[in-house]
Amino acid sequence: MLRTHTCGDLRQENVGQTVTLSGWVQRTRDMNAVLYLDLRDRYGITQVVFEQGVEAEALREQARELGREFVVTVTGRVAERYSKNANLPTGDIEIRPETLTVLNPAKLPPFLIEDNTDGGDEARMKYRYLDLRRNPVRRNLELRHRLAQSVRRYLDEQGFLEVETPVLIKSTPEGARDFVVPSRMNPGQFYALPQSPQTFKQLLMVSGFDRYFQIVKCFRDEDLRADRQPEFTQIDCEMAFVEQEDILQTFEGMTRELFKQVKGFDPGEFPRMTYADAMRLYGSDKPDTRFAMQFVELNDVAKGQGFPVFDNAELVVGINASTCATFTRKQLDELTDFVKRPQVGATGLVYARVEQDGNVKSSVDKFYGPEALQQWKAAFDAQPGDLLLILAGPADKTRKALNELRLEMGQRLGLRNKEDFRPLWVVDFPLLEFNEEEGRYFAMHHPFTSPKPEDIPLLDSKPGEVRANAYDLVINGTEIGGGSIRIHDRAVQARMFELLGFSPEEAEAQFGFLLNAFEYGAPPHGGIAFGFDRLCSMFGGADSIRDFIAFPKNNSGRDVMIDSPAEISPAQLKELSIDTKVEAGK
Ligand code: AMO
Repeated sequence: MLRTHTCGDLRQENVGQTVTLSGWVQRTRDMNAVLYLDLRDRYGITQVVFEQGVEAEALREQARELGREFVVTVTGRVAERYSKNANLPTGDIEIRPETLTVLNPAKLPPFLIEDNTDGGDEARMKYRYLDLRRNPVRRNLELRHRLAQSVRRYLDEQGFLEVETPVLIKSTPEGARDFVVPSRMNPGQFYALPQSPQTFKQLLMVSGFDRYFQIVKCFRDEDLRADRQPEFTQIDCEMAFVEQEDILQTFEGMTRELFKQVKGFDPGEFPRMTYADAMRLYGSDKPDTRFAMQFVELNDVAKGQGFPVFDNAELVVGINASTCATFTRKQLDELTDFVKRPQVGATGLVYARVEQDGNVKSSVDKFYGPEALQQWKAAFDAQPGDLLLILAGPADKTRKALNELRLEMGQRLGLRNKEDFRPLWVVDFPLLEFNEEEGRYFAMHHPFTSPKPEDIPLLDSKPGEVRANAYDLVINGTEIGGGSIRIHDRAVQARMFELLGFSPEEAEAQFGFLLNAFEYGAPPHGGIAFGFDRLCSMFGGADSIRDFIAFPKNNSGRDVMIDSPAEISPAQLKELSIDTKVEAGK
């Protein structure tokens, strides 16, 4: 046997035993009189001590030759340490070795395998198998494992069946771009990788499975960000014979259970907010509710007083950064530069300080006298010491910019504590979203989402105002999951495709299988999918999902370790009937 214990096992009570440990050399320290070797595996670090002495000299010689990350086996006796290390679970003991075997030497790693590594992003990705040896990254994957186990346990107890759906499916025009796979046996034809198992889980409901889940890979060829990977994992779920309330209850229950098991506390009942309120009060459909700073609309008190920027704006809206009246001119200039960044998109920032005596001093005093400014103060319910930050312009764009400013202020004021968790259901999403460029409606969630029954009459007259039975689970400003009650009626589904600009022939060609299935006894159904990587990174207190995925892609969608995507040989291309004469970019 190459080990009797792991490097994290041994304690005071093992003193006197002869044990065999195997692992990687974390480091050696040669102090002449003694040589220390820290032996590491996934479970911890154990100290091995090579003491001076004639008989031990050969062993010490051998230990001196060890380099970082050599794989070794040590057999020896467990001894109590003279000076104990309270920071290490194995810190009471050390090993006095009798034999040392090098199982495999190692080249010097390109970066330090330590909690705080000197490795840059690129090196860590290229040598991901070394990065995974580091405690913080390993702990992230352990957390991921625990969450997956808890999810499976909870859903199994609730009667959900885990069913696998295919990965080679068909490209569909809605949603993000597909990754496609050529078919050798069907020249000129392509499979697509699923963006989600959406239609399959609905078909499983038609089949009578009634409670389905799957922890499943999804693929989307979209621009990458910290919380987006081209291949990512969903906890995908669907239920039959349910209404929206049943789904919210079931998955609130699951999320609370995960908090209890993994974070050790119950976040309590999740508040709910309509999409309309989220946009009005936070300018975002995924508000970070760890802090208030809700939007206050000022059209009534700010317009019509001769300040053209406000007079010409569709919306004048602001936030109250309480206790920030002490911000310096420099800080305010920074905020102005922040809102003017192209990603934020405001044209400028108006601010007003409420002074200790209750008077208000603004950056637009030229247009607004003390009385008008008192009206602002009342609108914000502002107190001495508060700072009012105001933007103006087209409504949607201005709300979006103020959302960015609000989040920035939350950050600056330390209000976005990673260990404070505020889950929230956002409900009543619009069914459709108008795309100006394409001059047509798109499904806000996806084309299978059911309109609210009471809004169905609006489908013909005011499609933009139809609300959907769709919901998102938002935690701390991140969209963790989303779902909807589905259409299960062929006629309504066909009407939906029509609204989305499909001809009946196109709808039949793309989704005929689903429309047909609806004619064979489709039960009412609905579901939700959680972004599993996002859930993991949120529980782990991180911003990026990358370190919760064993082998992630970089920001250009590349796996720099295996160097993919890569070209394939002309022979392979030929076999796949792919015309190699087409030049890239044409
Ligand atoms: P949706 O498209 O909202 O819904 O996706 C569900 C959840 O998946 C996560 N997510 C991602 N995570 C990492 N990288 C990505 N590129 C990425 N894209 C999405 C998000 C999101 O909330 N079939 C529907 C669900 C349903 O209606 O049941 C769907 O896929 O956390």
